[in-house]
Amino acid sequence: MTLHDPDLDVYLLDADLTAALRADARAGLTATPKTLPPKYFYDARGSELFEEITRLPEYYPTRAERSILADRASSIARITGAKTLVELGSGSSEKTRLLLDALRDAGTLGSFAPLDVSASALRDAVRTLRTAYPDLHIHGIVADFVNHLETLPDTGDRLVAFLGGTIGNFTPAERAPFLAALRARLNPGEWFLLGADLVKSPSVLVPAYDDAAGVTAEFNRNVLHVLNRTLDADFDVAAFEHVALWDPANEWIEMRLRSTTAQQVHVAALDLTVTFAAGEELRTEVSAKFHQSGLTAELTAAGFSVRHWWTDPAQRFALTLATAA
Ligand code: SAH
Ligand code: AVI
Repeated sequence: MTLHDPDLDVYLLDADLTAALRADARAGLTATPKTLPPKYFYDARGSELFEEITRLPEYYPTRAERSILADRASSIARITGAKTLVELGSGSSEKTRLLLDALRDAGTLGSFAPLDVSASALRDAVRTLRTAYPDLHIHGIVADFVNHLETLPDTGDRLVAFLGGTIGNFTPAERAPFLAALRARLNPGEWFLLGADLVKSPSVLVPAYDDAAGVTAEFNRNVLHVLNRTLDADFDVAAFEHVALWDPANEWIEMRLRSTTAQQVHVAALDLTVTFAAGEELRTEVSAKFHQSGLTAELTAAGFSVRHWWTDPAQRFALTLATAA
């Protein structure tokens, strides 16, 4: 990523992401239990693997959310009258086209600002969308939605979309400050559209994160390739197995990488040697699932007023439309 990419505004350079990874890897790999934050999954390969996940038969969230958007996009456009659509963690923005179409048809939309930590995914999305929506001002922002919310364009009349259930990749302790920070960036009356996966049977949840084709396993292990390449580490990626389990107390799916043998890993850029016992696990992601009451309470506590709660017919996934109170 260069500073002069014509398609993107870059607030997070590769060097910044590497510096953050250094700090997070040092803290996480020396902690007990070992952890890594999920944002490092999404290098170019990780973003491609995520797109592959969205097409898997077991991974229902993307299809469920798309079906809600297909049913509700015109209502969302009418209710919000948004002039600018901002999308956090936008990835390919593929489902977002349903919103763009509805807002364009309603005649209000002038600009779209997708924001993502993955420069490669964002660049591809912006190029594709510019062709599909030649009259729209499209302004891609490479940034971290935790640290760089001040980069959101302040055009007024904004709708901020946070789709895919990515809110679930925060722990509860991370969610509250994120929601409060987002609310603080919005003017009263601006809108927030939040996609959230719902609590359901582990017989549905676990296969969504442990698919038969092994794509999620590859996505999970990809973070070790990121560490090898970026921090000059020597993880033997094949010596870690993918684990997805449902934690009923926290109501989240947890993804882990389990060391199949006792081994040492050297992270040269950190001058750090990490010891794994046979069977020791590294937590790579939580994916929290929600109930209407809990999510509404969290949004209200952050200063939003929830106006609509829409689900797919099977009540697998919810879209919440809230306004900055
Ligand atoms: N919204 C899309 C993509 C979801 S995947 C969908 O619904 O399908 C999660 C996306 O969030 C990825 O594109 C990833 O690069 C991005 N992401 C993860 N952590 C991020 C962070 N801290 N800041 C900005 N983007 C982040
Ligand atoms: C991006 N996020 C909402 C996905 C999820 O379902 O938690 C990431 C993912 N992890 C494994 N599969 C998909």
